Amino acid sequence: MMDQAISYTVAQFRDAIALHFGLTWPDNQAPFLADVVHQRAAHHQCSDSDYVGRLLHRDLDDQEWASLSEVMTVGETYFFRAREQLDALVDAAIPALVDGSPRRDLRLLSAGCASGEEAYTLAMLLRERGQAAGVSSWTILGIDINEVALRRAALGLYTAWSLREAPPQHVATYFTGAGRSFQLAAQIRSDVRFERRNLIEADPQFWGARRFDIIFCRNVLMYMTPGAARDVLDRIAHSLVPGGYLFLGSAETVRGLSSSFSLCQSHGAFYYRLGASSERLSEKVTDLPSGGLPSHSEDRLEWIEAIDQSSRRVAHLTGNHANYSPGQPAMPALPDAASGLAPASVQDLIDLVRSERFSEVAPAITRMHDQSKREPLPQVIGALAMIHVGDARSAKAACLEVLRADPASDLAEYLLGLCWELIGDPEQAIASYSRIIARTSTFTMAWVRMALVAQRRQDAKAASAHASSALAAIDGDADLHLTLFSGGLPRRAIAELCLRLVQGGGNGR
Ligand SMILES: C[S@@+](CC[C@H](N)C(=O)[O-])C[C@H]1O[C@@H](n2cnc3c(N)ncnc32)[C@H](O)[C@@H]1O
Repeated sequence: MMDQAISYTVAQFRDAIALHFGLTWPDNQAPFLADVVHQRAAHHQCSDSDYVGRLLHRDLDDQEWASLSEVMTVGETYFFRAREQLDALVDAAIPALVDGSPRRDLRLLSAGCASGEEAYTLAMLLRERGQAAGVSSWTILGIDINEVALRRAALGLYTAWSLREAPPQHVATYFTGAGRSFQLAAQIRSDVRFERRNLIEADPQFWGARRFDIIFCRNVLMYMTPGAARDVLDRIAHSLVPGGYLFLGSAETVRGLSSSFSLCQSHGAFYYRLGASSERLSEKVTDLPSGGLPSHSEDRLEWIEAIDQSSRRVAHLTGNHANYSPGQPAMPALPDAASGLAPASVQDLIDLVRSERFSEVAPAITRMHDQSKREPLPQVIGALAMIHVGDARSAKAACLEVLRADPASDLAEYLLGLCWELIGDPEQAIASYSRIIARTSTFTMAWVRMALVAQRRQDAKAASAHASSALAAIDGDADLHLTLFSGGLPRRAIAELCLRLVQGGGNGR
């Protein structure tokens, strides 16, 4: 049942978004939805309810939907995401598809391709391992609703953050450094085509029968209503060849949504094959690659450069994937109240942040005593974890909640600033950071963020000045601020980053 706090206007807006994009929003994100409505209504110089009415009556043009697609979608992605699935693709799925087939050309679709990292990763893999797997030629198409993401994909210009899981030899082979960005080789770019498409539209011409051999639709359906996900899976099933493969994200399943696929497992990955609805596990079960996923944690300065682009740390550092990371120290499980052990404490939450196990923070908070979990610090740490797992909208709602009770909470204000940056409103972010600095001039990371925002705006003078203030602040800053917000960087490394910002006139070098 819908929370009473959700206004009729926001509820209607949510319906409009579900109808148009298939995307769903939980009640606790109502404050974010209300903000979007308010901003868009202001842009169109009408009231919030008029704006939503116009959306529902299709009285706003495509440009408005394009703007909404930028705000309402989550574009988190990176090269070589979920390596185990990629190994399964090349070593199991492709050989099974081409085995005995006279046709050795493959047609791949990356549905919900965001800024292109997934599609380009497929191109690299096919160039390197396609022939050995029996493929002679291929086409790769990336589709997404978000035009800005597609433009970035076509440019092929990425930050270190997008390459955090890419093996170094791939970075060396396929990218050239271009300032703080990495330019993808033309050869790989020419392997992939991008189109703007809405997965929610039936579009029978596009979803022609047997049009694709392999479809990647990872981390897309998880944001959709069950009805929309069902429709998308129907289209995918229709357009795959018999025996064609579907790869979903690790948190996604077709269960309860489609009976057209059978489940396969190999290389430590799950994926689907079109046909025979009974589950068929272990098509070719092999062990996880012994080397595990590459760890990039050594390069902490690269990391902080990357948070300039996106402050969302991702689930690969936590949850299941943490098990595969050789650099990840094993930590004992938190005590579980249900098992009769002591409930979680604030220190446990801080330890989880320190060890970058962000996906475990929310469950740990639920295991705290009722009174403790309502304290501001657990709520702020909960919001921090939401940002790191890519949910800036919920994080923003949580920060606003803390600030309602304590308008002078620097911690909540800082995270709110980060959320504004992620949502694409740097003005609001600067307002948040300025409020903190006016109260607590030693809050280093607020200065650092101000410097990075200025740098993005190519305001070298301001970037350098803010970085100098960060340098001056760092010795007097509270340990807790740095523990929570510096991404694990020690003071010295933050100071080094600031120095680079000062010396580079804001270019970070
Ligand atoms: C989290 S990203 C996934 C990127 C990539 N597949 C991966 O797993 O790394 C989800 C993408 O789905 C896209 N998306 C969401 N709803 C969509 C729709 N209705 N039609 C097309 N793309 C959509 C978003 O714009 C976003 O770029």
